[in-house]
Amino acid sequence: MSEPVQTPQTNAAFRPRIFSGIQPSGGLTLGNYLGALKRFVEKQDEGIETIYCLVDMHAITVWQDPDKLRQQTREGAAAFIAAGIDPARSILFNQSQVTAHAELGWIFNCVARMGWMSRMTQFKDKAGKNSENVSLGLFAYPALMAADILAYHATMVPVGEDQKQHLELTRDIAIKFNNDFGVDFFPVVKPIIEGAATRVMSLRDGTKKMSKSDPSDQSRINLTDDADTISKKIRKAKTDPEPLPDTLEGLKDRPEARNLVNIYAALAGHSAEQVIADFAGAQFGTFKPALADLAVAKLEPITTEMNRLMKDPAEIDRILGEGADRAEAIARPIVDQVYDIVGMIRSRRR
Ligand code: TYM
Repeated sequence: MSEPVQTPQTNAAFRPRIFSGIQPSGGLTLGNYLGALKRFVEKQDEGIETIYCLVDMHAITVWQDPDKLRQQTREGAAAFIAAGIDPARSILFNQSQVTAHAELGWIFNCVARMGWMSRMTQFKDKAGKNSENVSLGLFAYPALMAADILAYHATMVPVGEDQKQHLELTRDIAIKFNNDFGVDFFPVVKPIIEGAATRVMSLRDGTKKMSKSDPSDQSRINLTDDADTISKKIRKAKTDPEPLPDTLEGLKDRPEARNLVNIYAALAGHSAEQVIADFAGAQFGTFKPALADLAVAKLEPITTEMNRLMKDPAEIDRILGEGADRAEAIARPIVDQVYDIVGMIRSRRR
């Protein structure tokens, strides 16, 4: 039998812990890299406890070919490591190996309200006019995401801008659970959405997010693209005929130009203001080659290392398995306490 529930705690009692995840539902893009992966590495290097997950159970909310899913999960893990995640310092694993996620996800399905879920803009975008025909899992997706985070009592979640609403829902679920059961069990998580590239846009349309699911490969840079492809995509990126302005304000109604400036800033580790100061008055004929060179210099070593790691899939699986063991050791006692709080009998001898 598990220990009696220790409550209440105060939010201040939760130690700083970061959790974040990426879906292995396709190859990773420059958007994933700048909005998430690069920042995951920075957090690890700041010495905070970091837990990173390839969320394969989220991926199957839309159809995934089983062989491709396995391949993409390994490729995602290789991208994490190639980008600088050290599996000895961070916990790196795939979601389905730790059953606490699914278990807590179910409990949160019973905490979250239909109305909350119906307001999720990502669900509305993904379901489109087809909402009768999408999986039930796609609708419940944000409750599983809340479970991913709260199964670890994580306090901070680095993400791109598009995940903000899901994190607000995570807070709502944590607060409702605490109120319903009269406990102070779950922390209220803090989204970390910072830097110059929290929303990297399509290279073909500056009003659309760069996405692995966009039908046009020209719209994105993939972490598997070689140097030549990266250069070509940047040189062909949609822009306008004006030179770069001398203030950020001058980019206000120029989404494509703004996007390229943001990408440059994030890759260089500068602010967008600094990039504008350096390139004020420059034509795209000058700026695009500079951006292409910078992108190749930053991404090529990652792609090369990913390709090297992918030659040994058994080693990747070993790393994911070891990460899952460490993740389980944190999540299991937390989810066991949730069962106690909710009133479920836990009498098996284990
Ligand atoms: P996913 O797989 O769509 O994206 C992974 C991360 O990459 C960020 N991102 C971007 N950032 C900037 N510009 C872009 N164009 C761009 N595209 C993607 C996303 O914001 C995200 O941080 N629901 C999540 C996965 C998830 C998760 C979690 C995240 C599941 N459980 C728990 C954090 C915590 C998703 O679909 O991300």
